Amino acid sequence: MSTAIPNDISDVIEADRNHLWHHMIQHKPFETVDPRVIVEGNGVRVWDANGKEHLDGVSGGVWTVNVGYGRERIANAVRDQLIQLPYFAGSAGSIPGARFADMLIDKMPEMDRVYYTNSGSEANEKAFKMIRQIAHKRYGGKKHKILFRERDYHGTTITTLSAGGQPERNAQYGPYTPGFVAVPHCLEYRAQVSSENYGEWAANQIEEVILREGPETVGGLCLEPVTAGGGVIVPPEGYWTRVQEICAKYDILLHIDEVVCGVGRTGTWFGYQHYGIKPDFVTMAKGVASGYAAIACMVTTDRVFDMFKDNAEDPMNYFRDISTFGGCTAGPAAAIENMKIIEEEDLLENTNKMGARLIANLEALQEKHRVIGDVRGKGLFCGAELVVDRDTKEPVDEKKVQAVVADCMAQGIIIGATNRSLPGFNNTLCFSPALTYNADEIDELTAAVDKALTRVFS
Ligand SMILES: Cc1ncc(COP(=O)(O)O)c(C=O)c1O
Repeated sequence: MSTAIPNDISDVIEADRNHLWHHMIQHKPFETVDPRVIVEGNGVRVWDANGKEHLDGVSGGVWTVNVGYGRERIANAVRDQLIQLPYFAGSAGSIPGARFADMLIDKMPEMDRVYYTNSGSEANEKAFKMIRQIAHKRYGGKKHKILFRERDYHGTTITTLSAGGQPERNAQYGPYTPGFVAVPHCLEYRAQVSSENYGEWAANQIEEVILREGPETVGGLCLEPVTAGGGVIVPPEGYWTRVQEICAKYDILLHIDEVVCGVGRTGTWFGYQHYGIKPDFVTMAKGVASGYAAIACMVTTDRVFDMFKDNAEDPMNYFRDISTFGGCTAGPAAAIENMKIIEEEDLLENTNKMGARLIANLEALQEKHRVIGDVRGKGLFCGAELVVDRDTKEPVDEKKVQAVVADCMAQGIIIGATNRSLPGFNNTLCFSPALTYNADEIDELTAAVDKALTRVFS
């Protein structure tokens, strides 16, 4: 750990215990044990308040720090930008805002316009608002319903929870925003039927829901390209082609939530690019600047953009939306350097290579440990689902899943697991290392999982 961090930070622990409310965690245990405080990161490792080193297998806990820690060139770009101009409201442009939009659209040839916000939830809300406004402008308000998929997550606000397919995230926060309707999940390992072509079957279930609701009432469909917190679900063969056909058939806008997959995580710039589909909205956040600054983007097409400027005489005929911190310049300044790093260091290629190694290592663990029922993933975005019995696929008790995570943590290796997602199904170990991982680091990560599985399940 660097000498810049004082040895004794007991005051920090006390201040944390007394006044900080951590995310997604029950605080009762902190009455007797110290809360975890992470004080420094470098490369793919972080150090906690006790000086203990950890290999970070989840890019800052929630698949975010894609280019790794300690990137001085990002920090310098942010510093220079803050001195030049930290902020101006987003009704005006900024130098990094325009430059990053240009770089981004270069990576997304099917898209045209970038709208800046400050979180993934907020980016998703922008797309929802646009779908609703289009419904009002073109369809007398009728085509206002938005479909989402079981197991997907789109954010923490009440409306994004209303579009959330994870009952444990939603419970106790209702009533929800009306007009959001669930479609079935597409996890083949837990297929609802046995079908020769499960991908097509799963996509056809979306059509069933559209027909049940009435196509004239459905304006949008929001999907993760690869479901993240709902269990690392890679949609099966044939799924996306059919989804695109269904959207075209019923004039439904396709919104792809790339908050996790976006900017390299799956080995392409965007997850949807694996499948040759053409979305109407793409939202992204976490990896856009790898957490060096808060930035999220809602990206759309000229077809959508033009609907908001076709009658300049009408004072209501534009997107009447604002995001105060969408005007911060640190975000796009950091995002520019982040994207340059991915290009210069060939990190997409590394993600594909290291992702293949991670999957191969997890499959080798599956041979050894009967508790691993399924291994899945794309790029450096992988999961291993733990089951009591491979035939019945009964999920293991989530306390055991947490015990595996805790054992790895004790070894100095940070992995993740699905958390307060689906009742009884928080049983998938999650891996999302930085896109810079090398082969030794991948092996170090999976060796720790091997030891933890041996200890917890023997
Ligand atoms: C797929 C997906 N969409 C949206 C969000 C919400 O992003 P944020 O936490 O930045 O609001 C998340 C957060 O984990 C996510 O995983």
